[in-house]
Formats: sequence, structure tokens, C-alpha cells
Amino acid sequence: MPLLTVGHRGLMGAEPENTLRSFRRAEREGVDVIELDIHLSKDGHLVVMHDARVDRTTDGSGRIAEMTLAELRALDAGQGERVPVFREVMEAVSAPVQAEIKDAAAARGLAAAVTELGLHDRVRVISFHDAALRETRALLPEIPIALVTGESTATAPERAVALGASMVSCEFPRLTPEVVGRCHAAGIEVISWTVNTAEELARAVELGLDGVVTDEPELAHAALAGA
Ligand code: G3P
Ligand code: CA
Repeated sequence: MPLLTVGHRGLMGAEPENTLRSFRRAEREGVDVIELDIHLSKDGHLVVMHDARVDRTTDGSGRIAEMTLAELRALDAGQGERVPVFREVMEAVSAPVQAEIKDAAAARGLAAAVTELGLHDRVRVISFHDAALRETRALLPEIPIALVTGESTATAPERAVALGASMVSCEFPRLTPEVVGRCHAAGIEVISWTVNTAEELARAVELGLDGVVTDEPELAHAALAGA
């Protein structure tokens, strides 16, 4: 089976992360799925950004939750790109999307957007936060969900089963054959973030992973080619 190839925040090794430019690049490079991160603005918009603060990825300063969309729109998110909202991304690209809930308060709004825009077949909701995934499951019983894990990767199989997640996305250095085996025994797919070198890709294949999340166009090409 070929590896599912997921473009991380678009393809953040090549373009400013979580921007339309990055998502379009990921689609051009042929990734199977685009990954993005979601926060909630002060006025309730689904803002696509990784950190809770705008400081690292824009020329501004402050917490997303304390800023309006108009204030966020005034920022430069890299190479003149504006901070996108979820709907814009879904309109800018046609690839499937892994929408990661960073701020659990965004779960309800994301479920509403998926329903309003008819995105059930294009979106998988993913999160580190069990509560956000539980809320998503309650609001969208049919949507595929994935549990994201870092330090807690060892318990990913049990948590995923309890949440009704059909996939886990685990931090690469923390994955072991044992965790992969327990996930697969439970019928849960395993993908991993982030896989950016040929050596890491070889290890991903050796571990029997179902997919890789990558920052890099070259790695995406290699994974898509079945390397
Ligand atoms: O796809 C999961 C991965 O994106 C989680 O890590 O910190 O890059 O959102 P992070
Ligand atoms: Ca993410």
C-alpha cells in the first residue's frame, strides 16, 4: 500500500506555514491530504494558524483569541500572505484536509462549517485534545477523526479506541513497532509527524506506517513515488 502523504501546514518547508500560498503549493506538489491548524478569533472566526499567539508567524503581536478577524487580516503572515480562515482554504484548494483543532473552543464552529459547506467527505478532524474530538464526534457522528499525540504516544491506541478515532497521528521519534502493532490490531491507521528526510522515510516504511506528514516537497515526491 502506498503511504498517505500529508502536507504539514501546507508545505511549510517551502512556503510560509498555514497560508493559502502554502496550501496551493502542497496541492501543486501532489500531496494526498493537506494539514492545517485552527484557532478561534475573538469574534468567532475559524482562524488558520498554529500558535495561540500571532508573534512567531506574522509581523504582529498578541493572542488570536483576543483579536478580531479584521485585526488578524491586517498582519503579514509571510511573503505578503494574509492569515486565512478555514472556509477560504477549502475554497482555494480541492484536496482533502486534516483540520487540527488547536483551540478546543473551535470544535463547535468547525463542525458547523463542515455541515454548512458540505465537507463531510473532504475533512478529517484531528486534535491533541480528547475533549475537542469528543465534541466533534457528538456533533458530526460520521466524520473521520484522528487523535494526534506527542508525549502520550504510548497510550495512543487505547485513547483512539475510546474516542472512536480511525487514525492516530503520532510524533515520529516516539513511535515504536509495539505502538504501531497495537494500533493496527485495533484497526487504527498510523501516520506520523514529521517525516522530512530519506532516512526518516525509510524508518516510516520499516515501521509499517500508513502515512507520513511532511514539510518538504522532495520528501512528498519520494513518499508519493513509494520510496
Ligand atoms: O499533523 C499533526 C501535527 O501537525 C501536530 O503537530 O505542532 O505541527 O501541529 P503540530
Ligand atoms: Ca498541526
